[in-house]
Amino acid sequence: MRHSKTHPADPELPYSQLAPIYDHVMRHVDYDRWADYIQSIFERFGATPKDILELACGTGVMACILDDRGYRMTGMDRSESMIAVARQKALDGRRSIAFQAGDMVGMPVSGSYDAVLCLYDSINYIMDEADIAAMMIGLHGVLNAGGLFVFDVCTEINSRRYFHNQVDQESNGDYSYVRRCEYVPESRVQVNEFQLTFHRGGKRYATRERHEQRIYPVARLAEICRQSGYRVLGAFDGFSFQEASERSNRVHYVVRPA
Ligand SMILES: C[S@@+](CC[C@H](N)C(=O)[O-])C[C@H]1O[C@@H](n2cnc3c(N)ncnc32)[C@H](O)[C@@H]1O
Repeated sequence: MRHSKTHPADPELPYSQLAPIYDHVMRHVDYDRWADYIQSIFERFGATPKDILELACGTGVMACILDDRGYRMTGMDRSESMIAVARQKALDGRRSIAFQAGDMVGMPVSGSYDAVLCLYDSINYIMDEADIAAMMIGLHGVLNAGGLFVFDVCTEINSRRYFHNQVDQESNGDYSYVRRCEYVPESRVQVNEFQLTFHRGGKRYATRERHEQRIYPVARLAEICRQSGYRVLGAFDGFSFQEASERSNRVHYVVRPA
């Protein structure tokens, strides 16, 4: 199933239902450490960005951390529901971060940025190579010459190791979910289905969400970057500066307009 690029409020869209509980579901993720790694990438490649655009910013956790560390942040995400959570988070913390809903493939963003981020395998939600190339080409319009684009993806070995025929579930009183994960090697698609139950105002609501992510070969993504007019400065194995390979669970790409 392909998701529309033009209807960000679509309740069928991944994360539209999950948004209110996303931060809780992801509470194991150490975003501060992730931010440290991003800053170490800036340092390694001599970048001193001031204005940063975060694509697929989700509920704005990273944007808030980087705002607190002194960067001027802008966030965009396809899901209106995720953006609503991000805006509230910024408001609660008295941060002035511009969050907007939009599909990164069409890149409906204005401004110019010293760095652009797209984190936590959000690129894997782009289901074909032509759309990744379109996104990368659109990015030239907002990324300053000499700026960095940093993104990461999850790999096939990660799907096979941790997300094939897996079921996990959780309940915390307000909500419960069951997640069923399956990797389909023929199409290189990771499918994660969430069955969610919420309790609100004494009523019980049940809903489902299906997530599909395309798993790209490590070298192929680097090639797409080059073909889209970028120099690949590195493709690094999970939170390190070691060269990534198909044995990596996560690969961090650092690219710059050529
Ligand atoms: C795994 S979440 C990561 C969110 C956030 N980057 C984080 O680290 O928590 C994936 C995010 O990608 C967003 N997304 C997926 N496809 C997108 C697209 N084409 N354009 C913009 N956002 C997209 C989803 O709405 C979701 O918020």
